[in-house]
Amino acid sequence: MGLIATIGKKEKKEIPSLAELIAKGNHKTMRNVLITGGAGFIGSHVVRLFCRNYPDYQIYNLDKLTYAGNLENLADVAADCPNYHFIKGDICDLEHMRRIFADHRIDGVIHLAAESHVDRSIRDPFAFAQTNVLGTLSLLQAAREAWAEDMNGKLFYHVSTDEVYGSLHDPGTFFVETTAYDPQSPYSASKASSDHFVRAFGNTYGLPIVVSNCSNNYGPNQFPEKLIPLFINNIRHGKPLPVYGTGENVRDWLYVIDHARAIDTIFHRGRVGETYNIGGFNEWRNIDLIRVMIRTADRLLGNPEGHSEGLITYVQDRAGHDKRYAIDSTKLHEELGWEPSLQFEEGIEKTIRWYLDNQQWLDHITSGAYERYYAEMYGDK
Ligand code: NAD
Ligand code: DAU
Repeated sequence: MGLIATIGKKEKKEIPSLAELIAKGNHKTMRNVLITGGAGFIGSHVVRLFCRNYPDYQIYNLDKLTYAGNLENLADVAADCPNYHFIKGDICDLEHMRRIFADHRIDGVIHLAAESHVDRSIRDPFAFAQTNVLGTLSLLQAAREAWAEDMNGKLFYHVSTDEVYGSLHDPGTFFVETTAYDPQSPYSASKASSDHFVRAFGNTYGLPIVVSNCSNNYGPNQFPEKLIPLFINNIRHGKPLPVYGTGENVRDWLYVIDHARAIDTIFHRGRVGETYNIGGFNEWRNIDLIRVMIRTADRLLGNPEGHSEGLITYVQDRAGHDKRYAIDSTKLHEELGWEPSLQFEEGIEKTIRWYLDNQQWLDHITSGAYERYYAEMYGDK
């Protein structure tokens, strides 16, 4: 039988163990889904996929609209999808999270809200502990309290990163689900900590949880502080391309819509309590990827071959720069049948085309216009 637990001010009650929930296959009936961080890069693609593929679900996008949150990413969804609802809020605000669970009878959570940029975490680690650790904890607590009477049919899905596993050095080695955590940056330490809290809530309180750890994403709507959109924008404007260190660090790139498809698969068919790694077996040295971006962007811009090569500028390395990430997603493929839909060559061309065709999107962000717009629309709350 399950654990005996005291939940909030309620009397002690028996709650089912995680194993019992798994045996029941409990997460097949969710209808009111809270997606956190839905105005960000990956979150906006997840919100779009869920709103369009599941018209009988109500999708609540909870986002604080930090510098990285941009409702322009979802303008089409807000216009076309009656099942889409936006809530401005901070995951650290436990009272607000409690109200959201109660008011909207939330039965599924897909948690993406986070501070996500490694360079920012090096400058301000506290912001990462606040949002990624304490914010995740308040969301877990709100879910635990709201679902205390009946965990059946509920799921808390935590979206995490391959960076929690640390840095690979030996070629041919991969991160698998059982690789020991070894985070190296304040960002990855905060994500690792949040993963531990999620699993601890599963183990201690019987909260039905699932975790996925994904490799580097690329695609439309990524904030232009990250390598790919930053470099595309700089190529367009003839600005230097700051390559950290020698450019030999390796990242494993996955098209963002394939990540969203994997999240859909795991949310609906993943086993409760499990971890799934997500990646496309697509490793690139930064400098090789940058050369592909230069060649493709120059071709699409009508520049002569090699035109933007001279923009490459080697700069001081990122502090504690992880050498290599590489994900083994065999479990997700063999258990749930997921595989990437796009070859990298096709995905990177689509991506570069998108940024070149959506200069206005980039200009709004780089000019800060959208931040002013949302501050006027939504104020501080
Ligand atoms: P992002 O920075 O583009 O978006 C983060 C979103 O979270 C923004 O909309 C922001 O406004 C919101 N947010 C931040 N703090 C908040 C708070 N306190 N309350 C509510 N909302 C808040 O991030 P992303 O790249 O889309 O990453 C999304 C998630 O996926 C993160 O958890 C990240 O760790 C994980 N992840 C990212 C990648 C990647 O390559 N980008 C890969 C694997 C996992
Ligand atoms: O692996 C998943 C992670 O991928 C996610 O969890 C993070 O949220 C996401 O930001 C990303 O982290 P990275 O640090 O790998 O991504 P970024 O785009 O910042 O950098 C990719 C590589 O490019 C990395 O080796 C650092 C390098 N780089 C980055 C920037 C911004 C440069 O050489 N120059 C740059 O200007």
